[in-house]
Amino acid sequence: MSQIKAAITAVHGYVPEFVLSNEVLETMVDTTDEWITTRTGIKERRILREKGKGSSDLGAEVVKGLLEKSGTHADEIDLLICATVTPDFAFPATANIIAEKTGLRNAWSFDINAACSGFLYSLVTASQFIENGKYKKVMVIGAEKMSMMTDYTDRTTCVLFGDAAAGVLLEPTMDNVGIMDSILRTDGSGTFHLYQKGGGAVKPASFRTIAGGEHFIYQEGQQVFKFAVTRMADVSVEIMDRNNLKSENVAWLVPHQANLRIIDATARRMGINKDQVMINIEKYGNTTSATIPLCLWEWEKKLNKDDNVILAAFGGGFTWGSVYVKWAYDS
Ligand code: UT7
Repeated sequence: MSQIKAAITAVHGYVPEFVLSNEVLETMVDTTDEWITTRTGIKERRILREKGKGSSDLGAEVVKGLLEKSGTHADEIDLLICATVTPDFAFPATANIIAEKTGLRNAWSFDINAACSGFLYSLVTASQFIENGKYKKVMVIGAEKMSMMTDYTDRTTCVLFGDAAAGVLLEPTMDNVGIMDSILRTDGSGTFHLYQKGGGAVKPASFRTIAGGEHFIYQEGQQVFKFAVTRMADVSVEIMDRNNLKSENVAWLVPHQANLRIIDATARRMGINKDQVMINIEKYGNTTSATIPLCLWEWEKKLNKDDNVILAAFGGGFTWGSVYVKWAYDS
């Protein structure tokens, strides 16, 4: 008997207009376009500059786009999951705010915080509600205003991150397409290598945390790199093996966009050619949970029904994972 699968039936993305280039960063901190390009692959990133706007404003554009593209009425959406590490507020959830802004009156909604793996964690969570027959239309988005916690005097982090949102609509199918398999992992020993020191329950906001710059992203780059480069490749190879996928059977690798060197190493371990890897890090930098759906959105026209697509991410936590998707439609 065939089982219900959760298929991606629409993709959309949104980036703010303002472009912050490497050349402009050169005038702000002690860095060079050459250093940023060779170490990361990033040339520019987008920044949400309008005062009073947050991740929910980016996410709402994605939800509106998904509704329009799929010809779905807002009332039909059952659930909205928003992956974010830059929520509008500590609470309520940014997903609740997006649901309000886009008129999702019949949906319940919540956030998932799994840093750069947030989209994969959310996609797999959402797919359970479709596969068990409970829901028919679930939206999963990643929405990040990373600039709100970026210290533009710290060259080790400010060159890396950008703002964006992107996401997908999931619907049930009886065809053999959709979310086929997933491997998700956590290793909490990575906590203090990549995190925001202040503002949580352990170190609530105070004059001291503000003066100490503890509300900005803190990252031990090399340490994170070491884990990312092995763990992301490990799970991607594992998911290929257990689904009997050889490199020639994989149409696309869609990696989290944190560093071009990590992406290249993952593709090499999987035996995948560079022209089968979705890469847009040069335009947007690291947009945390938005990177993977942002790639799907940009490559949507090149995706064909039955394409085998491997999504892979690594991020703060540490969190990481790989999801095998069989693409459900021709554009
Ligand atoms: O998305 C979530 C997961 N995050 C990641 O996967 C990120 C993983 N880490 C990385 O991508 C890399 O470690 C970075 C891109 C963050 C840094 O690259 P790196 O090759 O590991 O550089 P490094 O930290 O070892 O720094 C090398 C040198 C240092 O100078 P000294 O000590 O050798 O004199 C840094 O101070 O480069 C210096 N440096 C810079 N120089 C110019 C660091 N940032 C900059 C900069 N411009 N922006």
